[in-house]
Amino acid sequence: MKLFVYHTPELTPKDQAPDCAIAVDVLRATSTIATVLSAGGEAVQVFSDLDELIAVSETWPSQKRLRAGERGGGKVSGFELGNSPLDCTPELVEGRRLFISTTNGTRALKRVQHSATVLTAAFINRAAVVQYLLEKQPETVWIVGSGWEGSFSLEDTACAGAIAHAVVEKSQLPPEELAGNDEVISAIALYSQWQNNLLGLFHHASHGKRLLRLECDEDLKYCSQTDILTVLPMQQEPGVFKTLN
Ligand code: MLT
Repeated sequence: MKLFVYHTPELTPKDQAPDCAIAVDVLRATSTIATVLSAGGEAVQVFSDLDELIAVSETWPSQKRLRAGERGGGKVSGFELGNSPLDCTPELVEGRRLFISTTNGTRALKRVQHSATVLTAAFINRAAVVQYLLEKQPETVWIVGSGWEGSFSLEDTACAGAIAHAVVEKSQLPPEELAGNDEVISAIALYSQWQNNLLGLFHHASHGKRLLRLECDEDLKYCSQTDILTVLPMQQEPGVFKTLN
């Protein structure tokens, strides 16, 4: 297995696809996806375009769907939900499909959607993703951070590092053997420095600060927890994610 980390969708190679792509948007899209599926959501369907989301979701029975729209960290008016994982309670999401569009997370997913396997990861479901990699041993793995409008995001690269760190630890392989690019080594270093204070890291992150200005303190706390959910969100058809466990 060779791991590659790309900090943003823009830095991810075009015209190639890995055996397994893992999209990461810790704050907050991939944390929300894991939470919805863990709470019994039927599936999460992602869109980069809000109009397309509305058109496709209209074809779905209204009692079986929820629509979530986020731009700039805030809820898009007219949508039932924004992008707070804490809103996705079992009472609300059980048996329903979440149709979601967010500023960056859904763009990252679009960028890798033609890979043989597409997973989503956040700190909260990191262990499930690591277990999948160790069991299936895909030859090439890309971990793609969502960043913020083309720029690097601390929290996404730290999560990529958390995945790589656990793979190194559990496979007993030296990092230089697993690393397909230098970004893997730097992501592991970033995670190693902050692993006991991820919330502190989020407070340094530009999107963390944006969410704090929007009074999303509880979301930051929730998303900074590691390995609390066992779900493995996996793409079943382009843009549609379900969990196998
Ligand atoms: C995004 O996709 O940019 C994020 O998930 C934004 C957010 O925090 O809602």
